[in-house]
Amino acid sequence: MGGGFYISKFVGVVGIVFGAGAVATVIALAVVYSQEVAKNEAVSPTNGGSTVKPPVTTPGGSTVVPQVTTPVIPTTAPSNEAWDKYRLPDTLKPEHYNLTLWPRLTVNAQGLYIFTGKSYVVFQCVKETDLILIHSNKLNYTKWGDDHLAKLSALGSTPVPTIKKSWLQPTTQFLVLELNGKLAVGESYQLDTVFVGELADDLGGFYRSVYLEEGEEKVVATTQMQPTDARKAFPCFDEPAMKAIFHITLLHPPTTVKCCIMILNKTSSYCPTSFDETKKMSTYLLAFIVSDYDYINSTSDNVLIRIYARKKAIADGQGEYALNKTGPILKFFEKYYNATYPLPKSDQIALPDFNAGAMENWGLITYRETALLYDPNMSSNSNKERIATIIAHELAHMWFGNLVTLRWWNDLWLNEGFASYVEYLGANEAEPDWNIKDLIVLGDVHRVFAVDALASSHPLSSKEEDIQKPEQISELFDAISYSKVRSSIFSTYLNTFAYDNTVYTDLWDHLQMAVNSTGTSLPTGQTVHSIMNRWVLQMGFPVVTINTATGMINQQHFLLDPATAGSVPPSDFSYVWIVPIRWMKTGLLQKQTWLEDKTVTGESWILANLNVSGYYRVNYDNANWERLLNVLSSHHESIPVINRAQLVDDAFNLARAKYINTTLALRTTKYLRREREYMPWESALDNLDFFYLMFDRSEVYGDMQAYLKYQVEPLFKHFENITRNWTDVPNGHTDQYNQVNAIRVACSTGMEECQTLTKGWYSQWMKDSAKNPIHPNLRTTVYCSAIAAGGAAEWEFGWTQFKAATIAIEADKLRFALACTKQPWLLNKYLEYTLDATKIRKQDATSTIVYIASNVVGQSLAWDFMRDRWSYIFTQYGGGSFSFSNLINGVTKRFSTEFELKQLKQFQADNSEVGFGSGTLAVSQSIERTTANIKWVAENKKSVQECKNSKP
Ligand code: BES
Ligand code: ZN
Repeated sequence: MGGGFYISKFVGVVGIVFGAGAVATVIALAVVYSQEVAKNEAVSPTNGGSTVKPPVTTPGGSTVVPQVTTPVIPTTAPSNEAWDKYRLPDTLKPEHYNLTLWPRLTVNAQGLYIFTGKSYVVFQCVKETDLILIHSNKLNYTKWGDDHLAKLSALGSTPVPTIKKSWLQPTTQFLVLELNGKLAVGESYQLDTVFVGELADDLGGFYRSVYLEEGEEKVVATTQMQPTDARKAFPCFDEPAMKAIFHITLLHPPTTVKCCIMILNKTSSYCPTSFDETKKMSTYLLAFIVSDYDYINSTSDNVLIRIYARKKAIADGQGEYALNKTGPILKFFEKYYNATYPLPKSDQIALPDFNAGAMENWGLITYRETALLYDPNMSSNSNKERIATIIAHELAHMWFGNLVTLRWWNDLWLNEGFASYVEYLGANEAEPDWNIKDLIVLGDVHRVFAVDALASSHPLSSKEEDIQKPEQISELFDAISYSKVRSSIFSTYLNTFAYDNTVYTDLWDHLQMAVNSTGTSLPTGQTVHSIMNRWVLQMGFPVVTINTATGMINQQHFLLDPATAGSVPPSDFSYVWIVPIRWMKTGLLQKQTWLEDKTVTGESWILANLNVSGYYRVNYDNANWERLLNVLSSHHESIPVINRAQLVDDAFNLARAKYINTTLALRTTKYLRREREYMPWESALDNLDFFYLMFDRSEVYGDMQAYLKYQVEPLFKHFENITRNWTDVPNGHTDQYNQVNAIRVACSTGMEECQTLTKGWYSQWMKDSAKNPIHPNLRTTVYCSAIAAGGAAEWEFGWTQFKAATIAIEADKLRFALACTKQPWLLNKYLEYTLDATKIRKQDATSTIVYIASNVVGQSLAWDFMRDRWSYIFTQYGGGSFSFSNLINGVTKRFSTEFELKQLKQFQADNSEVGFGSGTLAVSQSIERTTANIKWVAENKKSVQECKNSKP
């Protein structure tokens, strides 16, 4: 058992003063990075009109690629030279870049899309050195007269040393220049280069995206720099703290140039466009795009807002929703941060090929099409929610992340976690009727609890020296960074510590001041620092156990598989947290009290972690569990909706970790026949989903189906009634979600009435493909259900519609549903399609494989496919930051036999050479999960049978 448990007085005031406190947030957070804060004062270009003439033909001339011979010195045995390390030395500081890039939007004689570039960077020497290291990846350089890869000149009066040797170091991604003499401290120098790179379809650096427009193939040249791909577009000091000013010129087909994005017309000669110099900024936030797009625009408080997309998408009005919501969200954040938007314009652009969901490039945010484009006739309310939240997330980064930037990637959690928290506030402003803040519990708390309860989890904050290689950086973009911060720190603590001053030391100190000035009491001997460190520096979270018989309360590190406790790394805080608790007793809110108080005992029911404001699970003594079950089955409304969802989730997870038995967990779902709210249903379905994964290939399956079918019947009838036989749309946002759940579950558990309904809609659509009778909210579920029930004809129709879709959001619904067929041969064909970029875009490959694996029939097919093609998938699809871990976790999530565990370990061993890149942690997580599943299945089959046999 863990040690002390603390609750302070302030915990009763959770949920207060967000308005007042929030205004100070950015100031507080800025302080964390005080050394890194962008000065953003107007800096004139150090070397405005450059006189340097690069040895390369410039535009207007031929499109021939310069002849390039780049010496690459092979990496030999491990050495400790500066160029063998991944981090830049602290000798040089970039000030200003002048970059000209020329992407070719047609293939060259060798059949390649390429770009050429010339660039110079002015940097200051801050420590004496005779070595220049600058990042460069997959670029080839034209040699200068002296046979070197770059030209060095001095801007001051000190003479410039000559270059002794220059080469590329591919492993650490450096261009290396050894000098014959030292650079002088305080002096500025200029480094010129001329280079060529491939404009590949690899979704990283300067890359190409392709789409069809009226039968014609169109190429977009676009960028994705985060975290370490700016060096793939031009040589640069590619670390976030190396902020500089950029002056960028693009060469493109002549046209009207609109600020930061080019519009391409069909003539073939090229002309240059120079953009205003940027603010002082990090390389990972740069973006430049050449495209034949249209846009719509508006202004909000002098900020020009534009939405760019394919011409057809703009003509169809798909950008309107984003345009309408951006202004209000920007205004909200200006107020929230108490700082005006830092740029004169805000461009947002939808790209057909894009790795992540969206990227917060400063002033030019890039999105995949599904994350920005909305059409009321095609998009569901869930698509709309995604667009509103993702816009809010990326706009939040314009201040926190872009203006104030992390020093090194180990601080990524603060950047992404903070944006992930305030995205809900911004989206709530855009759509106040949705009560979207409540959904944090389902979207984040549950999501992160699942991984943070594994012994292979990790603390939020990593040591700077542990994060070096690009793949280690990519691996940081995980649920812990995104969701744990949102669930633990910001939701709980910013709400809890009231603060409103502007003292600059660091975030925790700042909060401490506020606590002091408001007289909020902390547990004896604790400070904000000591409380927060426990959440940031140790992994995992506690389960708090309340025993109403003895009055005892204690906490313990919650591990999904208690048998893994031995492999948990030691923690300086012994896995003890300081946990703020809000609670209620017999339906009455209890204020500002200590749970150790003797009032905990008694006959009445107790419910802790009210509205899930804390990042922990709660367990009770058996008698209190029985009282809570009793409340659920007699008057469930006395427990707040969020807590009904939480009780179910806690019970199921406590059962998995063997704190309570599985039968008790299953009994929390018995009252669902009376439940009409979305959150408890969704929580129960998420948890039962695990039972399905474990049992849908076993004899228990039939019992489970019968039980769930019985439970969902009244919900299905409820929606049939309130939608007047499926002709209306329910009013509430979450009611619309729950309607989808009702249909999904009723159909998948075999309710005939439901299946007839969905099959009927789909076949009506097949008869007249121009008239889709299915409401956008219901499409994913209806398509899936009809394709699952159907054969080749239904699948082929779905595939044709997928290829013909004019909005990505519709294509995505079909892409998901095509994985629902029960025909193995269709699933195998579909798997093959995933690695053919002309059929399934690269950005969608891994998620499509995961969809197929989620289907019980597709599971083993997808696993075989992934194992078989691993080295191809790894090299061709390796760039994505989220995609690899999602792929590995997704394909193995059903694993629950010794045989599967053996195969998984074999897979790990077989590919140790190729590696798993940003999916490395996912492989160990999968092994841990499978081991726990094996044990769980053996122990729990019986409970499921028993539950089914005892109808309430
Ligand atoms: N900065 C990220 C995008 C990113 C992630 C780039 C990983 C490179 C590697 C962006 O701000 C982000 O978090 N995007 C999310 C959406 C958000 C709503 C959680 C995404 O892409 O899914
Ligand atoms: Zn982000």
